[in-house]
Order: sequence, then C-alpha cells, then structure tokens
Amino acid sequence: MLNDILTIKKLAQEEIEKAEGLKEIQELKVKYLGKKGILTVKLKSLASIPQEDRREFGRILNETKVHIEELARKHEEILKALELNRILQTQRIDVTVPGCYMPTGHLHPTTQVLDEIISIFSSLGFSVAEGPEIELDYYNFEALNMPKDHPARDMQDTFYITDDVVLRTHTSPVQVRVMEKNTPPLRVIAPGKVYRCDADVTHIPMFHQLEGFMVDRHITMSDLKGVLEVFIHSVFGPDTGLRFRPSFFPFTEPSAEIDISCVICKGSGCSVCKNTGWLEILGAGMINPRVFEMAGYNPDEYTGFAFGMGIERVAMLKYGIDDIRLFYENDKRFLEQF
Ligand code: DAH
Repeated sequence: MLNDILTIKKLAQEEIEKAEGLKEIQELKVKYLGKKGILTVKLKSLASIPQEDRREFGRILNETKVHIEELARKHEEILKALELNRILQTQRIDVTVPGCYMPTGHLHPTTQVLDEIISIFSSLGFSVAEGPEIELDYYNFEALNMPKDHPARDMQDTFYITDDVVLRTHTSPVQVRVMEKNTPPLRVIAPGKVYRCDADVTHIPMFHQLEGFMVDRHITMSDLKGVLEVFIHSVFGPDTGLRFRPSFFPFTEPSAEIDISCVICKGSGCSVCKNTGWLEILGAGMINPRVFEMAGYNPDEYTGFAFGMGIERVAMLKYGIDDIRLFYENDKRFLEQF
C-alpha cells in the first residue's frame, strides 16, 4: 500500500510539472483527485484493509491528496502567469506610435454651392419646392408658353422618353406645379437636376439649376432686382456689380439676362470675361401672363418675377473653374480643393 501511494505521488508530481497548459492540469486533477480519480479510488479501498493500518494509511493518503492539490494549484498559477505574459508581449499597444491618418470626405462642390444658395434664399423667406426629373412635356414646355413646334424649344436640346414625357430641361416646370396647388403670395425656390442633350466645355448632359419665383399683388421688377442683389452680394461679395440685359424667354415678359462684374478682373477686362468686364450668371423676368393663365391664376390680379440659374455655372464663377466637366469626372485632385 505505502509503495503504491508513493508511486502515485511521484507520478502525479512528474506529470503536473510537465503540464504545459491549463487544460492539461485540469485533466490531471480529474485523473488523480476526481470522483473516479486514482487517489479517490485508493481512499475508498481503505475499507478493505485491516483496521489497525487504516488510520495510518488514511493519514498518508490524505496528506498526499493535499500535496497533489497544492502542486496542481501552484503549477496552474505559473501557467496563468506565463499566459498573461505572453498576451502582454504579443498584444502590446504602444500608445506613443503616431496615429494613422483617416481621410474624411466632404460635400461635393456642387452641393456646397447649392446649400449656400438655398440658405441665402431661405433667409429671405423663400421656401423650397421640388418636382420630378422625369417630367411631362406639358409642364416642361407647354405650360411655360412653349407650345409644340414652337421655335423656342430649340433653346433646349431635350432627351425625350416618349412624345409626352421628357427629362426636364430646366427647373421652371416646378413653378407651374407649385402654382397649380397653391395660391399667392408665393416665395419659392426649386433646386434640382436637369438634363440636356449637350456636351462640351461649358455644357454637360446633367447639371443643376435653381429656380426662384415670387408671386403676389404688385410684385415688380425692382423686387426681382432687390432679391438678386442680396443673393449676388452674398455669394460673390458686396462690391460685385449687377447688370440687367434685355433678353427673351417664352415664360417671362419682359425677360432679362443678369450679368455680374467679372470676378477675375473686377470689370476692367480679361480673358475670362472676354474683355467685356461682365459675366452672365442667370436668366430672369416677370412671369408671363400666359403662364399665370395656364396655372389658373388671374393675370390681372397677380404679378410675379422668376429667375433660373445653373448651379455649376455659379460654382465655376465663384471658384474660377474653366471646364464644367471637371465637376463629374470624380478626380479627387479636383474635388479635394473645395
Ligand atoms: N429656365 C431657363 C433655362 O433653363 C432659365 C430661366 C430664365 C428661368 C428666366 C426663369 C426665368 O425662371 O425667368 O434656360
């Protein structure tokens, strides 16, 4: 019996000391100390040995058990410490290493300029309306005083979907849609995408416009001038000159094209303004009584002004960009400058 116990003790000791992982230690504990473990079985077998030896062997067995438990616990601690050390070594975080640069994006220059323009008109009490990009021929042309086969339609190269449906060529149709549903007074801007079958340095098939209009009793051209002056001075600076030039649009009468003094040479003449000192920025006018009639307004009761501008055009003048195609080539070297 004594020899047995000593052999078990020695074996257990060797095995525990060799154990390289916590799992192994766990298994050894079960092997020696568990319910059916070698020492437990031995303890149970005490019943079958003579009474006078039982006490002594019982004591030795219990001491051995305590000894093995203690060994296992100590070895477990060593292994845990080793594991912690390994984790600390391999997962060390050096807080002094410089951080990685995470580039953040920003809004597209078109969106930035559009947001700026919208906030200027909002501050003047204009509300924002939107209309469909796939538009009925009726709203895009007809209700704006451009009947079928009218030569004025040639001003806008249109993508036709069917004979009656087009990709809107301008944001002016929103005027009609808003007037059909609301009664004056109206102070509305309508920003959005427009489409034209057109492509060169100053034209692309999709671009953005912002339409603005104000309808009430006694609205005059001087109201138009006042509103546009606030807008131009906010975007291009308070010293920017403003010029109204007579023009023609079927949906306004009278119509005007509005120029600003050249942002590059300030009016003295340069290549950007082709030595005229002026840059064209938007179209405007007093809403044609025909348009009012078609929207269901009495032209004898109401007057109003309207204007429309290309957002990319405003951005080009603001930032001195000479090719509109740059906006949508998605070259980061261009976009990152804004
Ligand atoms: N819709 C015109 C265009 O796309 C721009 C325009 C001119 C809008 C005069 C207006 C206006 O409201 O009064 O060329």
